[in-house]
Amino acid sequence: MPKWFPVQRFLQLKLTVWIPLCLITIIQFFAAYGHYKYEHLPEESLNKYLYKHVNPKLVMKKSKPDCKYEDTLHSTKSVHTWEVTNQKLNFIPKGIANGSYTPEDCNPAFSVAILVTYRNRQSQLDVFIPYMHNFLRKQNIHYKIYVIEQQDDKPWNKGLLYNIGAKQAIAENFPCLILHDVDLLPLDENNLYACLHQPRHMSASIDKFRFVLIYETLVGGVLAITSDHYKQLNGFSNRFKGWGGEDDDFAGRMSANQFVILRFPQHMSRYTMLLHKQEAKNTARYDIMTQNEKHGAKDGLNSVHFESISVKPQRLYTLIAVRV
Ligand code: BGC
Repeated sequence: MPKWFPVQRFLQLKLTVWIPLCLITIIQFFAAYGHYKYEHLPEESLNKYLYKHVNPKLVMKKSKPDCKYEDTLHSTKSVHTWEVTNQKLNFIPKGIANGSYTPEDCNPAFSVAILVTYRNRQSQLDVFIPYMHNFLRKQNIHYKIYVIEQQDDKPWNKGLLYNIGAKQAIAENFPCLILHDVDLLPLDENNLYACLHQPRHMSASIDKFRFVLIYETLVGGVLAITSDHYKQLNGFSNRFKGWGGEDDDFAGRMSANQFVILRFPQHMSRYTMLLHKQEAKNTARYDIMTQNEKHGAKDGLNSVHFESISVKPQRLYTLIAVRV
């Protein structure tokens, strides 16, 4: 028998494994097909959709001019994914207190509460916080970052955490809420962190999904919504335990209220996702969605229950620690 035979046999055996594997990968790639060209607002008229409201508690100074947003909206600068982790090294927390920042040289037109739901992802939080402060401080907006941490081992309840964060931010008079995954970082400087007159899905183009919008009603990732609209929808359902579904359910609430999901163009909506293990999916999520649809948005902001809560202001963010 020739010497190379086992090698050839091995290769043949391998091919029987490799060919189906390659086919599965190609099928998966196209199965996750989405919209490269999703419907979005026209870039030249974004200004007229902006929800210009500031926190009534914010002190405006007559001596300062109004902040301008054209430079941000027309910026062509983008961060490359490989530059993302460097931001941690180049971070000086100037001007930040309790996770909040107010522009120094002008009076802002926007006050925005960034709500970040969180558990057990310290390494991501360590990248996210400095990155976001560096990104947001350039935008001339008044903002405050809240991290809402579930501090127990019970199933993850993201909807409940958003409701808790929203209640706090609304009690602190923020007119606009941005619901933000901790693993998503905006890449385009023209992605102004502001609400629009209708809910705005901000993370339409994520590298993990090959920069396509995977389905049109997707509102997960990063979503900007006015506090008034959030209250009108009764917030999120608190019934989703484990990964997934709560955002799709929220999209259902929006459409039942005739809200329209708006998006900025793709070159203003790109995000990179920090790597992590996929959490186990909540297999009951479709059933809960169907039940919720039948009963209307009965649970939500009005039925927030938890074991304990504490609000701890820290320099870079305000931590809301919850046991559900
Ligand atoms: C889940 C959503 C999630 C989306 C994208 C859906 O299957 O229900 O919660 O945002 O996938 O990952």
